[in-house]
Amino acid sequence: MKALVLSGGTGTRLRPFSYSMPKQLIPVANKPVLEHVLRNIAELGVTEIGVIVGDWLTEIDRVVGDGSRFGVRITYIQQDKPRGLAHCVALARPFLGDDDFVMYLGDNMLPEGIGAVAEDFRAARPAAQVVVHKVPDPRAFGVAETAADGTVLRLVEKPAHPRSDLALIGVYFFTPAVHEAVAAIAPSARGELEITDAIQWLVEHGAPVRASEYTGYWKDTGRTEDVLECNRKLLGDLAPRVAGEVDEASELIGQVVVEAGARVVRSRIEGPVVIGADTVVEDSDVGPYTSLGRGCLLRATRLSDSIVMDGASISGIPGLHGSLIGRSAVVGPSEHVASHHRLVVGDHTRVEVAA
Ligand code: DAU
Repeated sequence: MKALVLSGGTGTRLRPFSYSMPKQLIPVANKPVLEHVLRNIAELGVTEIGVIVGDWLTEIDRVVGDGSRFGVRITYIQQDKPRGLAHCVALARPFLGDDDFVMYLGDNMLPEGIGAVAEDFRAARPAAQVVVHKVPDPRAFGVAETAADGTVLRLVEKPAHPRSDLALIGVYFFTPAVHEAVAAIAPSARGELEITDAIQWLVEHGAPVRASEYTGYWKDTGRTEDVLECNRKLLGDLAPRVAGEVDEASELIGQVVVEAGARVVRSRIEGPVVIGADTVVEDSDVGPYTSLGRGCLLRATRLSDSIVMDGASISGIPGLHGSLIGRSAVVGPSEHVASHHRLVVGDHTRVEVAA
C-alpha cells in the first residue's frame, strides 16, 4: 500500500500565518501538523508516500525532506493551484500506479492513529473505505449516510441540510477502482474536483464503499482555535523530560519538557508545557498548555494556553492567554511612549487588548 498526503491548498482561515508558511507546517506540541501525519502513516508500515504540494514546496521540503527521518520515502507532486481533492488523486496517478493507497489530508490530526481503520480496509478491500466522526454541525464537511453494517449509501460535500451527523474526516483508503471514478466526475459548484463526488460515483456504480466510525480525537486544524485546542490535547499526553538547564530558583510542575540548550531561569512552569531547544525563559510564569518553539526568548511574562513559534521574543507582558505568536515575532513594552500601545502587525492579524 502507498500513501498520498495532501499538503497544498491555500489555508485562508489561518491567515496571517498562511501568508508565510503552509498551514500544514503550523506546529502543534512543537511538531508541524504534517510531521504528525507522516508519523501516523509510517505506523501503518507504509513507506512510499506521495505528498501533494502547492506553492510551498521549498518550505515543506526543508522541514520534512525526503522522509528518512520518519522511516519513509517521500515523492513530492506539485499542483499548480487547489483544484480539489480528486484532482490530487488524478495528478498522483503515475506515482500511485495500480496500488491500493491511503489518502490523508495534511491538515487533519488523528493523534490516536489510524491502525484500526487500516485493518478494516485490508480485511475487506472495498473500493473505498471512508472514515467518519459524529459532529454536532456537519455542514462544513462531507457528510455520509450509512447502513447499520457500515455500507455507505450516500455522500454529499458540505450539504446545507445534512441528512446525518457523520462527517467525513481526512483519511480515505482506496483500491485502484477510484481512478475510474475520478476520471468520470465534473468540477463541483465551487470549481473543485471533489473526492466526495468520486466516492459517490463508486456508490452509484455498485462498487463497495464502507465507512469506519472513528471515535478518538480528531481535529481539522483549519482555524487558529482548532490549532490551540489540538495543542492542548497533544500536550496532555506529554512525557516529562528535562534536557536543558533549569536553575534552582525555578519550579517545574507536572508534565514539562525542556529541550536541549533551553534555559529556565527564576521561572515557574506549570505543565503541560514544552520548551523548545535553545529557548530562554527568564522571570516568567508559563503554562499550562503552552508550547514554546526553538530559539525563543520569554522575559518577565505570564503566558498560558498558547503556541509561540520559533525565534519569537516576548517580554514584559503580564497576561497572555490563548495566543498564537508567529516566527520571530517581537512582543513587548513600547520603547517610545509608555502610555501607548504601538503595533506593527501584518495583514489579517488579530490583536485583542485588555481594556
Ligand atoms: O477535514 C475534512 C474535510 O476535508 C472533509 O469533510 C471534506 O469532505 C473534504 O472535502 C475536505 O474539506 P475541506 O474544505 O476542509 O478541504 P481543504 O480545502 O481544507 O483541503 C484539505 C487538505 O487538502 C488541505 O491540507 C489542503 C489540501 N488540498 C486541498 C485542495 C482543495 C490540496 O493539497 N489540494 C487541493 O486542491
